[in-house]
Amino acid sequence: MNIERAQNTDLDSIQTVIETAFSGKESNAISKLAADLCSEATSPSIMSLVAKGDDQVIGYVSYSPIFLKSDTHISGYILAPLAVSPEHQTQGVGTNLIKRGMDMLTEDGVDVLLVYGDPEYYGRFGFKDEIGGLFMPPYPLEYPFGWTGLMLNETAVPVSPVRFECVAALSKSELW
Ligand SMILES: CC(C)(COP(=O)(O)OP(=O)(O)OC[C@H]1O[C@@H](n2cnc3c(N)ncnc32)[C@H](O)[C@@H]1OP(=O)(O)O)[C@@H](O)C(=O)NCCC(=O)NCCS
Repeated sequence: MNIERAQNTDLDSIQTVIETAFSGKESNAISKLAADLCSEATSPSIMSLVAKGDDQVIGYVSYSPIFLKSDTHISGYILAPLAVSPEHQTQGVGTNLIKRGMDMLTEDGVDVLLVYGDPEYYGRFGFKDEIGGLFMPPYPLEYPFGWTGLMLNETAVPVSPVRFECVAALSKSELW
């Protein structure tokens, strides 16, 4: 398995992975999110990775920057979405996509990585709800227990909760 930066030409294959990994309505929304993230230019930039096996896309993850609304020097990213094609699940693909992303963001000097997903899965990478609680998303959360975070680069946590905005692709209340 190789982990590579996603190219725009990977979008169709990424959407196929998403459509098989997620079900129904969720699959349409996440597929649209991947397309939106692929076409959005931000500073700092969105980073998307694909896992390839036999030259085929078998997994996908995106990391997009957050923009803190207070006077703090903390820089952050959100991990979303993550998908692995069903026939390649439980073989470490998701783990590799997360660990590679964490390494790349750490190298880039990013301070915090946030995620909205199953804490049972993300907890194994060190994501904690007490870190998530310090970064207040722009929309009310349907599943507050799924909001967790991880400090990178040994950055100190903020002294009080800070609000943030996210990229346009994620600025949709229905995704939260
Ligand atoms: C969640 C997902 C990305 C994991 O990818 P993966 O490549 O199968 O994960 P890995 O092989 O790295 O890790 C597998 C381990 O995670 C566990 N796991 C997978 N999904 C889990 C979940 N939702 N909650 C808890 N554990 C989970 C597996 O049981 C397995 O455990 P083990 O190592 O003890 O055997 C993949 O199952 C998927 O695409 N699911 C559908 C889409 C989805 O839910 N995406 C995440 C949205 S936040």
